[in-house]
Amino acid sequence: MIYLDYAASTPVDEHILKIYQQTARDFFANPLSLHDLGTEAMELSRYSYEVIASCLGCDQKELHMTHSGTEANHLALETLLQTKPHNKKHIVATPFEHFSIADFLKKKQLTEGYEISLLTPNDQGEILLDDVIAKVEENTCLVAIQHINHEIGTIQDIETIGRWIQQKGILFHCDGVQAFSKVHVDVKALHVDSYSISGHKIYGPKGIGATYIRSIPSRNTSERLYRGTEDIAKLVAFAAAADIGTTHIDEKAKHIKELRTYFIENSANITDHASVFTARQQSPHVIGILFNKIPGHYAMLKFNQAGIAMSTGSACTVNQQSPSPTMIALGIDPQHAKNFIRLSLGNETTKSELEKTIKVCENMLQEWKN
Ligand SMILES: Cc1ncc(COP(=O)(O)O)c(C=O)c1O
Repeated sequence: MIYLDYAASTPVDEHILKIYQQTARDFFANPLSLHDLGTEAMELSRYSYEVIASCLGCDQKELHMTHSGTEANHLALETLLQTKPHNKKHIVATPFEHFSIADFLKKKQLTEGYEISLLTPNDQGEILLDDVIAKVEENTCLVAIQHINHEIGTIQDIETIGRWIQQKGILFHCDGVQAFSKVHVDVKALHVDSYSISGHKIYGPKGIGATYIRSIPSRNTSERLYRGTEDIAKLVAFAAAADIGTTHIDEKAKHIKELRTYFIENSANITDHASVFTARQQSPHVIGILFNKIPGHYAMLKFNQAGIAMSTGSACTVNQQSPSPTMIALGIDPQHAKNFIRLSLGNETTKSELEKTIKVCENMLQEWKN
C-alpha cells in the first residue's frame, strides 16, 4: 500500500521501536519505587522530560505529559482558563482548529457561558494580526491559533501574533501537533502560553502527547499535572522521536518540499478539475485538493482500491461525513467542500509513489467524465 496519510499518523521509526523495546524490557520498574531499579527509571523519565523540553525551548518543569495531542490541547486550555481573570469570558479562535479544540470550546460556550469569536482567514488560510486585533475585545481572556493547519498545511505567523497577544496580557494557546518536528519551535520566541504536541505524528508511539504550559507565579504548574505510574518506555521513545524529529528539520523539509513540487508540477491534468492549495507559508507535508465534481469519499475509496491510503480531511472528521472545516472557513460552499481530499507526505514517500498517485487520480477523473 502507498501511504499518503502521514498527517493522520506516522509509522513508528525502526530505531525508536528498538529503543522502546529495550527500555520496556530493561527499565520496567515503577519510577516512584525507592529501590535502585525505580531510581534508574525515574532518572530516565527526568532525562526524557529534559530532551523534549529542550526541543521546545522550555524548562522541563513547564512540560506536561498526556496520552495524546487531544488531551494535551484539553489540559492546556483548561489550565489556562483556570488562571484567567474571573470577569473575562471571551475566547478568540480560528474556525479550523482541530476538533479537540473546537469541541472543547463549544462545550465551554454551552456549559460555562463563554463567548467564542472565530477569526477570518484570508484565501490562503492565513490568519493575519489585523484580524486578531479586530476580534479581541475588552473581556478576551484567551486566543487559540494552530501552528500548521492539518488539512491544507498553512503555517501561521505565531511569533508576530503571539508578541501582540502577550503585550495585551491575553493568554495564547497554540496547537503545534502538525508543526512539531516540521518547523523550528521555540515556545518562548513564539510568545505562547501553551503549546501541544503528539507522539504519533513524529514517528513516535501512539498514546502519548505533551503540552508546554508557561509557568507563572499565580499558576502553580511546576507539579506534574498528570501523575500515575509513568510508561517509561513510551516516554523515552517519545523523547527519542522528538530529538530525531527536531534534528536536521531544514534538510528533511527540503526533501519533502521537492516531493510536493514534483506532485504539483506533474498534476496539470488534475488541476484542470480541482484546486490544489498552496499558501505563501506552506508546510510541504500536506497537499489539500478540492475536486470540482468528485466527492472526497468517492475519491478516497478509489484511491484505496488502487492501494493508496489518503484521507478526506482530518481523520477525526471522516466518520462524521461533515465538510472540511478548513474549506468552509475559506468560503467554499458546504456541498462543494465535501469534495476535499488530503494527501500527506512523510519521510518514506518517494517520487514513484506520487507518480502512481497522479496516474490513479487522472484515471479517476477520466472515468468520472465518461
Ligand atoms: C492539528 C491537530 N491537533 C491535534 C490533533 C490530535 O492529536 P492526537 O491524535 O494525538 O490526539 C491532531 C490529530 O490529527 C491534529 O492534526
